[in-house]
Amino acid sequence: MKEFKGRVAVITGAAGGLGREFANVAASLGMRLVLADVDAAALEQATGELRAGGAEVLSMVCDVRIAAHVEELADAALARFHGVHLLFNNAGVGAGGLIWENSVADWEWVLGVNLWGVIHGVRVFTPLMLECARREPDYEGHIVNTASMAGLLNAPAMGVYNVSKHAVVSLSETLYHDLRLVDAPVQASVLCPYFVPTGIDRSQRHRPEDLRGEAALTASQRMAQALVSKAVGSGKVQAPEVARLTFDAIREGRFYIYSHPQALGAVGERMEAIVHARAPADPYAATPEINALLRAGVKAQ
Ligand SMILES: NC(=O)c1ccc[n+]([C@@H]2O[C@H](COP(=O)([O-])OP(=O)(O)OC[C@H]3O[C@@H](n4cnc5c(N)ncnc54)[C@H](O)[C@@H]3O)[C@@H](O)[C@H]2O)c1
Repeated sequence: MKEFKGRVAVITGAAGGLGREFANVAASLGMRLVLADVDAAALEQATGELRAGGAEVLSMVCDVRIAAHVEELADAALARFHGVHLLFNNAGVGAGGLIWENSVADWEWVLGVNLWGVIHGVRVFTPLMLECARREPDYEGHIVNTASMAGLLNAPAMGVYNVSKHAVVSLSETLYHDLRLVDAPVQASVLCPYFVPTGIDRSQRHRPEDLRGEAALTASQRMAQALVSKAVGSGKVQAPEVARLTFDAIREGRFYIYSHPQALGAVGERMEAIVHARAPADPYAATPEINALLRAGVKAQ
C-alpha cells in the first residue's frame, strides 16, 4: 500500500498500547479512522485527542470476541466512510501459568479475543475490502494481524497465549496465500512483537465478569504474571517505534513484521529442532535466569 491520505483505517484494540500508536501514525498520514475497543473511557479519550489533532474519527465500543459486534463495526465503517483500506486486527489479552492449570474461562477469554477477534476481522472485513476493490479503480488494501513472537516460539508458562498467537500466524499465512490465489489488491502481514511497554500485562482489567473464574491464581500463574510485567515494563523498543516500523512494512508490502529481529535466533533453533525431529529447543536458552525464576516459582507451589 503506497497511498494513505484520505483512505480508511480500521483498528481494533485502538484505545491503548500498539493500537493507539497505529491510530497516531494513520492520522499523521491523513487517514480517516475507525477505532474499536472494549474500554469505552479510553476509547473516548483517544477519539477526542485524535479529533483535536484534526483526524476524522468514527469510534465504536466493540468486543472483538463477538461476531455481531465486528459485523456492526464493518457496517458502521461502510455507512460513514463507504470503504475500508487498512485493517489492524490488533486487540489482544494475555494469561499465563502451567498449561494444565488454566481454566476453561482462561482459554475461552484469551482465544476469544486473540484468535476469534482476528477470525471475525478477517471473515467480515476481507469480503468487504474485496468489494471495495471492485468499485475503486486504484484500490489498495492491507490487513495486519497482530500476533507475537509467542506465535513463533513456545515459551513455558504462557501456553494459552502461545496457542492463540500460533493460530494467528497460521491464519495470517493462509490469508496471504488465499489473497494471492484470487489476485486480490489486498495484502496481508503478521506483526510479531517481542516485549513492548504497553498495558498488555494488565489485560485482566478487560476480562468480562462471566469469564473471571472463582479460583485464586496458582503459583505458576503469579510467577508468569510477574515475569511478563517485568519483561513488558523493561522493553527497550517503545510502542510508537513498533507502529512506525509496521507502517514501513505496509508500504513495502512485507509479510512478517518484527519489533526485535535479534530474537529470531530462538525461532531458527525451534525450526531446526522441528526439521531434525529433535526435542523442542529451549526458547529461554539465551536467558537461563528466566528459566531459574520459573522453576523457583513453580516449586513454591
Ligand atoms: N506489548 C507487548 O509486549 C506485546 C508483545 C507481543 C504481542 N502483543 C500484542 O499486541 C496487541 C496489542 O496489545 P498491547 O500490547 O497494545 O496491549 P494493550 O493492553 O495496551 O492494548 C490492547 C487493547 O485491546 C483492547 N481490548 C482488550 N480486549 C478487547 C476485546 N475483547 N475487544 C476489543 N478490544 C479489546 C484493550 O482495551 C486495549 O486497549 C495484542 O494482540 C497483544 O497480544 C503485545
